[in-house]
Amino acid sequence: MASASVSVLAILLLGVAAVASAQLSATFYDMSCPRALATIRSTVAAAVSRDPRMGASLLRLHFHDCFVQGCDASVLLADTANFRGEQGSFPNRGSLRGFDVVDGIKAQVEAVCPRTVSCADILAVAARDSVVALGGSPYTVLLGRRDSTTASLTLANSDLPAPSSDLATLIGSFSRKGLSTTDMVALSGAHTIGQVQCANFRSRIYGEPNLNSSYAASLRANCSQSGGDGNLAPLDATPNAFDNAYFGDLLAQRGLLHSDQQLFNGGSTDALVRAYASSAAQFGSDFAAAMVRMGSIGVLTGNQGEIRLSCSKVN
Ligand code: HEM
Ligand SMILES: *[C@@H]1O[C@H](CO)[C@@H](O)[C@H](O)[C@H]1NC(C)=O
Ligand SMILES: *[C@@H]1O[C@H](CO)[C@@H](O)[C@H](O)[C@H]1NC(C)=O
Repeated sequence: MASASVSVLAILLLGVAAVASAQLSATFYDMSCPRALATIRSTVAAAVSRDPRMGASLLRLHFHDCFVQGCDASVLLADTANFRGEQGSFPNRGSLRGFDVVDGIKAQVEAVCPRTVSCADILAVAARDSVVALGGSPYTVLLGRRDSTTASLTLANSDLPAPSSDLATLIGSFSRKGLSTTDMVALSGAHTIGQVQCANFRSRIYGEPNLNSSYAASLRANCSQSGGDGNLAPLDATPNAFDNAYFGDLLAQRGLLHSDQQLFNGGSTDALVRAYASSAAQFGSDFAAAMVRMGSIGVLTGNQGEIRLSCSKVN
């Protein structure tokens, strides 16, 4: 009885998710703001050419938005005297970047079309434009998300995967968001760009056996057993290029995070990692499809939520 009602609930929830994503559309702003996409693209391109890592940071912002109460720009809500949002959570604190760039994009977009384009859509488009600016393949972003009036520190702490996660935990955390194991491996390929702080890989370089020894030695030079928590290391061999080098690194036991190397450690995802390492095209198309699915998690549409005027605070 209990399990029957759980499955009825699951079917209802899946139905709601399907309806919500069916309401997203590639042409959503074609009439209401035809310049929206070009405006976002040029601002992202300028930011990435000033600071290539910004492309990685914008891509990660969209992921951290979608995994916490859906792609609703909840991650952008800044703390105030009487509101604690997601930015102070363990995965986000001292780590997320790009809020100023998003505020700048929003200001440009408001100037061409006031009160029309959501911050959640800006994050989805900026993520795609970042991938493209760093050499990845273009894909079509579905639009029509609306912005939340709430955020959840609790969900940010519980739903974002930790770098200490093992393969089963990673599969489970993506599965709870409706994403397959293939989606999880493809999306992890986002770690082909960007940087990681020493605190997030220290335990890996002082003690894990499945790590390339020459690579470990070079990492230890800038990440000592204690201190230097914020020292950065590139996530793969080519941190400013959106390519498939990340997967080649995994084959050479050069996954920087514990969670990265879990994708190629004798388990069920080894074959897919080999396939992506040998085919940039297969990785590119699976990544694009997975980004579209991730971008439709828990979206607000129609007259739900609001179009924020400023991405960092509710209207
Ligand atoms: C599979 C589970 C994942 C885990 C455990 C994980 C964990 C992490 C950690 C710990 C960092 C470094 C943060 C820091 O040191 O400040 C990071 C960086 C990054 N993550 Fe992930 N991540 C995962 C999946 C993803 C996904 C799905 C995406 C996007 C689709 C993504 C995009 C990025 C990017 C681009 C960076 C570099 C950001 C920058 O340089 O500013 N990650 N991730
Ligand atoms: C060491 O960390 C600093 C601070 O994050 C960083 O700027 C530098 O590039 C790192 N050096 C090496 C060799 O990785
Ligand atoms: C360690 O990394 C180097 C450089 O990528 C590579 O040539 C070597 O095969 C790797 N070692 C192992 C055991 O994978």
